[in-house]
Amino acid sequence: MKLRQLLSASALTLAFLSPVRAQDYVPSPENLQARQAFSDMKFGIFLHWGIYSLFGQGEWYMQNANLDWREYEKAASAFYPSRFDAQQWVSAIKDAGARYITITSRHHDGFSMWQTAESDFNIVDATPFRRDVLCELADACHQQGVMLNFYYSHLDWRREDYPLGRTGHGTHRDTTKADWASYYAFMNRQLTELLTGYGPVGAIWFDGYWDHDSDAVPFDWQLTEQYELIHRLQPACLVGNNHHVNVHPGEDIQIFERDVPGENTAGYSGDMAISRLPLETCQTMNGMWGYKIVDQNYKSTEELLRLLVRTAGKGANLLLNIGPQPNGELPATALQRLREMGQWLRTNGESIYGTTAGDLAEQPWGVTTRKGSALYLHLLHHTDDTLVLPLTCKVKKATLLDGTPVKMKQTKKAVVLQFPQKPSGVDYIVKLMTKP
Ligand code: GLC
Repeated sequence: MKLRQLLSASALTLAFLSPVRAQDYVPSPENLQARQAFSDMKFGIFLHWGIYSLFGQGEWYMQNANLDWREYEKAASAFYPSRFDAQQWVSAIKDAGARYITITSRHHDGFSMWQTAESDFNIVDATPFRRDVLCELADACHQQGVMLNFYYSHLDWRREDYPLGRTGHGTHRDTTKADWASYYAFMNRQLTELLTGYGPVGAIWFDGYWDHDSDAVPFDWQLTEQYELIHRLQPACLVGNNHHVNVHPGEDIQIFERDVPGENTAGYSGDMAISRLPLETCQTMNGMWGYKIVDQNYKSTEELLRLLVRTAGKGANLLLNIGPQPNGELPATALQRLREMGQWLRTNGESIYGTTAGDLAEQPWGVTTRKGSALYLHLLHHTDDTLVLPLTCKVKKATLLDGTPVKMKQTKKAVVLQFPQKPSGVDYIVKLMTKP
C-alpha cells in the first residue's frame, strides 16, 4: 500500500518523492501573516450549496436516504440556479460585517461546484446552468475585498475508488474497486485546480476525516503530503481540518464544529486540546448546513450576535452557515439576520474585529476581548448598574463605546464600575483603557 501511495503521488509532483515528515512543517512568513489576518477577521459566512440543495433535505440526503449514486447523479441535470448572483451574495455577506466566505467546493456527494477536468460530475459539465459558480464567486470576492475559502470533502459517497468508510454504505458502489492511491491523486489534482485557477484562496477547509477514524482499522489519509502541496502552491493559504481530533502538523487553523472552543456542546470536540493556532467555531443559522426546506428553526439575531461575542471572547472566529436555496438565492430569513448583524457590527465592531480573548475567562455576566490597551467587557447577562471585576491591571479610563464615561474605583485587587444606566440589550459593552 505504502509503495502504491508513493507512486501515485510521484505522478503529481517530484516534490512528493522526498518524504515530508510531519514535524518538518515550518509555516512561511506569508502563512504567519495570513494566520494573523484571519484571526483578526473574527466573522465569516459558511455556504453549503450543491445539487443536494435541490432536494431540500440537507447535504446528507444521499447517505441518509440510501440513494443509488446513479439515480442521485441525475439531479445534476435539473440544477439550474437561475437567481444566482455572486455579486449580490458577496455584498449581502460583506454588509453583515463578515470578512470571509467558506463555500463547499465538493461535499460528500462528490459533486464539484467548479469546472474540474477531473470529473464530469461538475456544475459546468453536468448541469444545464453551465456556469462555474466558484469562479464567479472568486471574482466577486476579490472585487469586494472578501476572503474566499474552499470547503473540500475528504470522503466521497459516489466514487468507487474511495475506500468505504463509516458512511455512504447505501449508495450502491462497487466497493471492490476501492483504490486509495487513485482517489488520493484525484483529490490532489482537484486541489491543484482550486489553488491555481481561482486567485488567492484564503483557506482549504477539509471535512470527512472522521469517516475513517477507527483505532481498530488504522487509515493513513496522507495529510502531511497533501498539506505540503497546498502550501507549495499558495504559501499563504491556510489549512484547516474538521477532523474532531488534535491539530495535525501542517494545519494553520483549528476548527470546532458547533462548539465555542472548550465547551464541547455538540460532542465533537471532546478529544481536542485547544491549540495556539487561530481558532474557528462553525455553527448553523438554523439547524442544518445544506438547504432543508422544513428547517425554519433560525436562531434569533440576538442569539447569533451573542454567539459571535462569546466566540470572540475565546479568541476564536465564528463561521456562520447559510444553506443557499436551489434557485441560487440566500433564504430571506438568513438575509434578514445578515442585515441585522451588520447593523450591530457597524456600531460595536471595534470590540470584536482584531481582538484576542480578553484578560478574564468567561464570567457569569459575560466575556472580555482585548485589542492593544483596550479591554472590552461584554455584559451579556447583567442587569445591575454596578460590577466588581477581579482585575489587577491599572485602568486609566472606563467608557461606553460611544465615549460616555463610566464611573470607576480601583483597588489593588478589583475594579468597581458604576454604569450610567442599568445594562440592557444584546451586549452592553464597556471599554477599559489599561496599562500593563
Ligand atoms: C459535518 C457534516 C457536514 C458539514 C460539516 C460542517 O462534518 O458531515 O455535512 O459540512 O459538518 O461543519
